[in-house]
Amino acid sequence: MAKAKYVFLNDEIVPWDEAKVHVATVAFKFGTAVFEGLRAYWNDTEEQLYLLLLDAHMRRLAFCQRFMRFKDPIDPEYVGEKILDLLRANEYQQGVHILATVFVDAFGPPATSGPVGLAITAAPRSDPKLREEGCSAQVSSWQRVPDVAMPMRVKCNANYQNGRLASLQARADGYDTAILLNSRGKISEGPSMCFFMIRDGKAVTPTVTSDILESITRKAVIELLDTHLKLEVEERDIDRSELPAAEEAFFCGTAWEVTPIVSIDRLNVGDGKVGPVVRKLQQVYANVAAAKLPHYPQWRTPVYPR
Ligand SMILES: Cc1ncc(COP(=O)(O)O)c(C=O)c1O
Repeated sequence: MAKAKYVFLNDEIVPWDEAKVHVATVAFKFGTAVFEGLRAYWNDTEEQLYLLLLDAHMRRLAFCQRFMRFKDPIDPEYVGEKILDLLRANEYQQGVHILATVFVDAFGPPATSGPVGLAITAAPRSDPKLREEGCSAQVSSWQRVPDVAMPMRVKCNANYQNGRLASLQARADGYDTAILLNSRGKISEGPSMCFFMIRDGKAVTPTVTSDILESITRKAVIELLDTHLKLEVEERDIDRSELPAAEEAFFCGTAWEVTPIVSIDRLNVGDGKVGPVVRKLQQVYANVAAAKLPHYPQWRTPVYPR
């Protein structure tokens, strides 16, 4: 991650090198923290930076703090304001990835629930190669953690070790990334992204009760597929054996945006090239995010006063 000029930590914007948290905090020792990853997109013509789906991210951050029973949770409206302040302080004029983390900033045993602190970082993001060329995926032998153990619906930092193991295994075996099955043996999601396939001309994605994060991008993509691409979308269980029947497949998420999957377990998806539905969806998503299309103005928050 590239260094930025400034970071937000506990009520103030501080220079990058001064953003420090004590090693004895519960967050550091046990991963007791929740976070949101957001993206902001630069529009050259308007000379404006747009934060994508801020309200939805702040609603999820509120839910996650509540689920984790944090004491005196941080007001999501305040977090949103501080994200905007930080982007302005760093004077970004390019695509940016933001992480806003609420963490237990106290010393004690794992069940310690407060007080909590807030850390926000933001770093420029360039266009990744995999988004253009597509990625290869391995169906992982690591299973998605079930809801009754550590709910993936909650964006808790500790949850991310599950996807990390799958990513590491995939890379060691020569793939770009992984697809995890849930405890029922159905497709769940990727390490940081949701899964979609196009089968018989319909878009299909696992339900929100498949041990996935209830992804904000997934919801936006369902809307775009339905409204702009006029494609029927089915939310249902997906069997592993359906994957070779897919015409196209892709991952979606704030960080992964819309990334085509061109092979799974070394078997081509469709003809092994990025398909027309995924290409079109990528264009619509990018243009809506950067306000190059006028649709969904409620999804965008302008960062700079103009
Ligand atoms: C496990 C997991 N699944 C899916 C996603 C995509 O979610 P969203 O679209 O809300 O970023 C993420 C995002 O970080 C994730 O961590």
